[in-house]
Amino acid sequence: MRVILGVCGSISAYKAPWIVRELQRLGAEVRVVMTPDAVHFVSPLALQNVSHHSVVVNPYAPEHQQGGSWHVHWARWAQLALVAPCSANTLAKLAVGLADNALALVLLSLPQGTPVRLAPAMDPDLWLHPATQRNARRLCEDGALLLEPEQGELASGMIGPGRLAEPLELARWALGQASLRGRKVMITAGPTREAIDAVRYLSNHSTGKMGYAMAAEAQARGAEVVLISGPVALPAPSGVTLVRVDSAEEMLSACQQHFSVCDILIKSAAVADFTPMLVSAGKLKKEHLGEDWSIALRRTPDILAWLGEHKRAHQFLVGFALETDHAEENAKAKLERKKCDLVVLNRANQPNSGFAGDFNTITLVSQQGLMALEPMSKRECARQLWGAIEARIGG
Ligand code: CTP
Repeated sequence: MRVILGVCGSISAYKAPWIVRELQRLGAEVRVVMTPDAVHFVSPLALQNVSHHSVVVNPYAPEHQQGGSWHVHWARWAQLALVAPCSANTLAKLAVGLADNALALVLLSLPQGTPVRLAPAMDPDLWLHPATQRNARRLCEDGALLLEPEQGELASGMIGPGRLAEPLELARWALGQASLRGRKVMITAGPTREAIDAVRYLSNHSTGKMGYAMAAEAQARGAEVVLISGPVALPAPSGVTLVRVDSAEEMLSACQQHFSVCDILIKSAAVADFTPMLVSAGKLKKEHLGEDWSIALRRTPDILAWLGEHKRAHQFLVGFALETDHAEENAKAKLERKKCDLVVLNRANQPNSGFAGDFNTITLVSQQGLMALEPMSKRECARQLWGAIEARIGG
């Protein structure tokens, strides 16, 4: 495959020569185009040496003028364009169709239908800025595929989403050789809210971080992902179909709607186990409720158990268990009772585990036994989990 690699001004541009090598190892021929800022982070000479092609930084440099418009020839030569790392500035330019440097010019010159892959890398505030998110969304709407930046420690010392994926993973994703290509995945994430009245609800401390990390990783591995999410403050990973729900009932009906076309079902949501029997349409006034007030609750539908009951032989079902006491015993019982293929056990009362934090400590529980993993970031955890799922479902 003939690939144009665009490199932008981001500290992670130091990975660019390595990305070229991985693309080549996977069978690609690579030409590199750089923004003027990128040369502060990686040398055009290094990229020229590894790619065996001259690198374009200045679109008007005399050496690129033989044979007429180089950008048209390059754009027609390419079967795929990958921008890695892609800066916030380049995302903005591509989103509005500017062509004021060599990279933007050649991307804008690509014939319709040429696949475009973007791997943004930047500090979290830049990535999460509404303008950057809007540009990313617009580019996805225009047909580009975007690899969500990874969570982790960044060169600036900040911690958050912004890291460029590792070169081999990135190259596989770009070339469509990702391990979950062709698979459909349904993931539930976050808490549910069970309304008491017009302003109050019952819920829990789930932030959705683990489920969103699972969705981003599945998307990076080439899966088609439906993310059914309770109310959380996280942006949806790009390229993922997001279905927002509030209550357990709504989550059940979204799952029922999507599950039959999916191959892998990940039930990481922290579904409220009980919901009020009566919901008041208006706001309940405390003077009418007295000093002590109790509300009658009923059990919510057990969505995981429903999925376990209805799943077909080819579908792989992953449940989560959040436990404090007799954790492993309870997780094993859940595996059986809810007919899961795998249960991911978190401990609610341990550091680096469970709700809200960026780290998790999990144990995989299946018919084959238990596998305890070290504490690690939720993104790394998602990677390990997908590795384990892939090993079980086979090629
Ligand atoms: N779950 C669900 N629907 C519910 C409750 C839980 O789908 N109404 C799913 C969760 O998404 C998770 C798994 O069941 O994958 C474990 O949930 P958890 O609440 O820990 O376990 P329960 O089996 O509900 O039992 P308990 O609360 O007593 O531990």
